[in-house]
Amino acid sequence: MQLPNDPRRLPAETLNRDSLLSPWWLSGEPLARQHDRLMCDNALEIPWDQSTAGELSDEHRARVARVWRARTRAEYLAVSTFEYLSVDMVAAGAPPDILSFCHQAAIDEIRHTEMCLRMTQIYEGETVTPAPDLSGMANDPELPKLHQAITNSMLLNCVVETFACTILAIVLEQTTDPTANAVYKRILSDEIGHARLGWAFLRWGIDTGGDSVIKACSDKVDFVVKSAANVVDAPRPKEEIPDVLRAHGMMHPSEERVIFSDCVREVLAPGFTGLGIDVGNVVDDYGAEWVARPIAELDPNEKEEWQAL
Ligand SMILES: [Fe+2]
Ligand SMILES: [Fe+2]
Repeated sequence: MQLPNDPRRLPAETLNRDSLLSPWWLSGEPLARQHDRLMCDNALEIPWDQSTAGELSDEHRARVARVWRARTRAEYLAVSTFEYLSVDMVAAGAPPDILSFCHQAAIDEIRHTEMCLRMTQIYEGETVTPAPDLSGMANDPELPKLHQAITNSMLLNCVVETFACTILAIVLEQTTDPTANAVYKRILSDEIGHARLGWAFLRWGIDTGGDSVIKACSDKVDFVVKSAANVVDAPRPKEEIPDVLRAHGMMHPSEERVIFSDCVREVLAPGFTGLGIDVGNVVDDYGAEWVARPIAELDPNEKEEWQAL
């Protein structure tokens, strides 16, 4: 039965198109109202019309666009990563609060994709859409389901999302462009939840599975930290980042390495150790020597630049 006062039933044409994050990417089917509600459940407004991208040189603008383009792809991929993780969690018997939050995280990643698309458009001047892609979460039929779910979440949430929060918090401090600042703030507020999901699930998994889960996690510490470090190690331009680009959220790869190293030593290793997980030599492996290694140079013709988030 049609409920005329139910906003979910209003036709898409009644939507304020300006409120949509990247309207050009919608399907054209009458689902826009429901989508809008899911995307805008957090009250933080993004001042899209206050971007100062137009004040940048063409070269600087293209550089920032290249980062948002890569970020769009990463956020879109994260949607499928959380969907895979939710399947792992069901197979492991995860309780409903963990599951609902995992699905909320996938919704958040759709929102991030849309915001990043819009940022790419602002800097690049063209409407773009992300390429189809699929996440490659580990699936080992030999592994107990609980161990697989917990170790996949350990990588995705405890390491990648926790590190993203540390980087985002620092990027946010220097980002004075009003639009970029609000986008980073919105993404950070979601990513904090995604990191918490992992630590909560890890705690639940250890309470449920005991020593065998602790052993499975200890065996994976090197792998999960290295997987995140590989993103920090992606080829990047080596030249200094001028203040005008820092105002738009750009950070030099050498600074990202220092933050990653600090994050391993001050957050990840103590967090895992506190839960009884053996972190081995991970603090030393990502210490001063790792930070000081040469940075791989990015091909200037590359269309994407992977700045860690
Ligand atoms: Fe995200
Ligand atoms: Fe996330």
